Amino acid sequence: MTQFSLDKIKGRSLTTGTRADLLQNMVRTYVGDYVEIGTAYGSSAILAALANPKMTVHCIDPMDGMYGKNKIDIQTGYHPSPELLEWNCMQYDIEYGKRVILHRQKHPPFPKAIADLQFGVGYIDGDHSVAGCIADYEGLKDRCQCLIFDNYEKGSVKKGVKPALAAGWNLIERVAESSGNKQPYQMVAIVRS
Ligand SMILES: C[S@@+](CC[C@H](N)C(=O)[O-])C[C@H]1O[C@@H](n2cnc3c(N)ncnc32)[C@H](O)[C@@H]1O
Repeated sequence: MTQFSLDKIKGRSLTTGTRADLLQNMVRTYVGDYVEIGTAYGSSAILAALANPKMTVHCIDPMDGMYGKNKIDIQTGYHPSPELLEWNCMQYDIEYGKRVILHRQKHPPFPKAIADLQFGVGYIDGDHSVAGCIADYEGLKDRCQCLIFDNYEKGSVKKGVKPALAAGWNLIERVAESSGNKQPYQMVAIVRS
């Protein structure tokens, strides 16, 4: 398997370390196409595509300025864009537009073009607010076998995951990853019981 190395990505790799491992393990376990809400530069989309070369990766992201309108990331000099996502995919020989497909919009609503599809894994890494996580869960809950939430260290994401747990989804994996002097990043995976 192609190893994921951060140095090929332009912009930032935002799903890394133990969280990258969790994402790839779930993609290999819950086989089917993959959908994510929040793609940015594409690290999670590329990780998923590398974990299962047979599946299609659907990305939902408006790419409208993660750092504010027309502002670049001061750490890297880039802002997420379809062109940058395509360039990053090309570094891993992943065909953009065929294996990785961008649905350039905010969620909700769920994109009409893929409304009738079912997926193995759905990854929620969009705006991380309570309302955002719940809306993303609502959009994915009947379409995915497994859901992954990033930034579970945030109170808003914990609150956003609660309705899923109350509805009978089980938390099956939880990893933490050091983030320097801040609270460690956490990621969780849940599946329907
Ligand atoms: C943390 S980044 C995603 C990182 C990416 N998953 C990775 O691992 O590289 C968050 C992204 O979510 C997108 N976003 C924010 N709100 C959204 C929404 N309601 N629907 C879809 N994407 C959203 C932003 O445009 C941004 O690119």
